Amino acid sequence: MDTQVLVAYATKYGATAEIAEKIGQVLRQAGLRADVLPAQRVKDPSSYQAVVLGSAVYIGQWRKEAATFLGANEKALSERPVWLFSSGPTGEGDPVQLTKGWRLPKAQQSIADRIRPRDIAVFHGALDPKKMNLIEKWMIKNVKAPVGDFRDWDAIDAWARAISDALLRETP
Ligand SMILES: Cc1cc2nc3c(=O)[nH]c(=O)nc-3n(C[C@H](O)[C@H](O)[C@H](O)COP(=O)(O)O)c2cc1C
Repeated sequence: MDTQVLVAYATKYGATAEIAEKIGQVLRQAGLRADVLPAQRVKDPSSYQAVVLGSAVYIGQWRKEAATFLGANEKALSERPVWLFSSGPTGEGDPVQLTKGWRLPKAQQSIADRIRPRDIAVFHGALDPKKMNLIEKWMIKNVKAPVGDFRDWDAIDAWARAISDALLRETP
């Protein structure tokens, strides 16, 4: 049977959607089947053999669509291999160092502990002031977050390859 992987994501301005698309592309290139969908559009995660779930981070929180998906599908997710990612920090260097070791919002930590994801990645994000509203622009200025597209496609590619390697190893 073909391994069918769900890549679900939550985004506000599209940077995380593109990360999810890239992950889906790498999985397909490795010979897996992958659906890349906004988390709120997923009907039944239990029809997939594995799930990748990621969200953009805003003020230390996941987007509501990803948080809701995680909470609503805890059982299905605890019964299959799951990989989680947060995308957000901008600037140079290790994204986990940029977030001072943070990987997941506190609100999602206890569910994640029960689901026991194979990995929780943090990817650099992209900040485009042209897309932001006035309050967002003010907030970004206030915390002096570097503006620009800092997404590290090589790191995303490598992470997705590790997922496909694991799934191909486990499913004959
Ligand atoms: C108002 C605002 C608050 C943000 N807060 C955080 C944050 O707390 N932590 C973080 O790592 N990134 C934060 N970011 C950066 C976003 O996560 C980053 O721009 C991300 O790539 C956006 O993804 P999206 O285009 O998929 O919505 C913030 C961005 C904005 C505009």
